[in-house]
Amino acid sequence: MLQIGSLTLDSPLLLAPIAGHCDLSFRMLCREQGGVGLASTDLLNSRAILNGSPRTLELAATNEFDSPCGMQLYGNSEDPLPQAACWAIDHGAKLIDINMGCPVDKVAKKHGGSLLLRDCASTQRLTERIVDAVHKHSGGRVPVTAKMRLGWDREHFVAPTLARDLASIGIQAVTVHGRWTVQFFSGKADWNLIGEVVAAVPSIPVIGNGDVTEPQHALDLMRQTNCAGVMIGRGALRTPWIFRQALELIRTAASPSSGVDPPTPFAPTLLYKCQMIRRHLDLLAKYCPCERHAIHGMRSRIAWYSKTMGPIKPLKEAIRTASSLQEMACAVDYWIEHLVAGATESDILGRLFAFDSGGSSVRESQDVCGTPDLRRADSVIE
Ligand SMILES: Cc1cc2nc3c(=O)[nH]c(=O)nc-3n(C[C@H](O)[C@H](O)[C@H](O)COP(=O)(O)O)c2cc1C
Repeated sequence: MLQIGSLTLDSPLLLAPIAGHCDLSFRMLCREQGGVGLASTDLLNSRAILNGSPRTLELAATNEFDSPCGMQLYGNSEDPLPQAACWAIDHGAKLIDINMGCPVDKVAKKHGGSLLLRDCASTQRLTERIVDAVHKHSGGRVPVTAKMRLGWDREHFVAPTLARDLASIGIQAVTVHGRWTVQFFSGKADWNLIGEVVAAVPSIPVIGNGDVTEPQHALDLMRQTNCAGVMIGRGALRTPWIFRQALELIRTAASPSSGVDPPTPFAPTLLYKCQMIRRHLDLLAKYCPCERHAIHGMRSRIAWYSKTMGPIKPLKEAIRTASSLQEMACAVDYWIEHLVAGATESDILGRLFAFDSGGSSVRESQDVCGTPDLRRADSVIE
C-alpha cells in the first residue's frame, strides 16, 4: 500500500508516463496484468487541454477501469496550469502530477518540464497556485505530486531542497528520476542520490524511478533508498507484467518467514505473451479513436515486447508491416492457435517456411486469418 494524501494505492508500484506509449489502452493492459498502484497519462500541455486540442483530449482520456488515474501536466508560470488541473479533476484525474523532469527541447526550452528545476523559487510559486486550485476544486480529495530529475546538471543537485520546499506548500508525493536533465536517458540512474532525496523529505512519500527493468530491481531500489514506492517506465514497455512480479517479491520480502515456501513466481510463457499482445490490440481497437495512431503505437511497441519472446522475427515483421489492426491481430492469432495446439516456436517457424515454399501451410494460415497476410512475414525469415 502507498498513501498519497487522501489517495490510497493498493500497490507501491507506479506506471511511469512515457509519451507516445502510456495511453489508455496500455494503462489498462498493465493494470490487467496486476500490481499497478497508479498509472498516469503522458505529459499534457495545459493550454492544449483548455483549448480542447483533439490529440491532447485523446491522451487525457480515462475510464472507470483505468483507476486510479493520475494526469500529468506541464507548463510554466505563464501557463494556465491551475485551470488545467481543475479540468483534469473534472475529467477523471484522481491525482495531478506536475512534470519537472522532461529534458526534451520542445518542453524544457520554453514550456516547463526540467526548466522548472532551474528556478526553484518560481517553481514553488507556480506549485502553490496549482495546489491551492486543486485543493479548492476537489475539497482536498485530489493530491498534487511532482515528478523531477535530480537537477539540471551535477553542479545543481536541487531535488532534496526543492522536494522539501514543495512538501511544505502541500505537494503530497515526489517522484525522483535519478538522472540529471543534461543526461537525457544516458548513463545510469543514481539510486544513491535518490536515497539522499528520501532522507531530506521525511514528511511525504518519495517514489524512486530509473532503470527498474527487472522485478528484483524494484525491491533493490526500495531497500537501497528507503523510497516509499517505485515508478517503472521502459521496463513496463517490455514486460507489462513486471508490476505483478515485483509486487510478489515485495510482499514475500515483507511477510515474516512462516516456514511455508513462498509462492512460485509468475513466469509468463510465450503463449501468454502472445495473448497479451492480442489483448493490447483489442484494447487499442476499443479505446484508441484513431486507427493510424493505434497502428503506429503497436508497430513501435512490438520491438519492446519481442525482447523477451525469443525467435519471433516473422511475427514482429508481420506487425511492423501490417496496415490495419485487423491484420496485426491475424498475425498474432496464427501464433496463438499454434501455441495452444502445443507447437513450439521452431514448429511454427518450420510451418512458416513450408508456407513460404508453397506447402500445405498456405491453406492452414488462410484458415486462421482469412487473409494471406502472413505471406509477408514469411518472406523475412532469415
Ligand atoms: C520515450 C520516453 C517518453 C517519456 N515521457 C515522459 C512523460 O511524458 N512524462 C514524464 O514525466 N516522464 C517521461 N519520461 C521519463 C519516464 O517517465 C521515466 O522517468 C524514465 O524513463 C526513467 O524510468 P525508466 O528507467 O523506468 O524508464 C519518458 C521517457 C521516455 C524514454
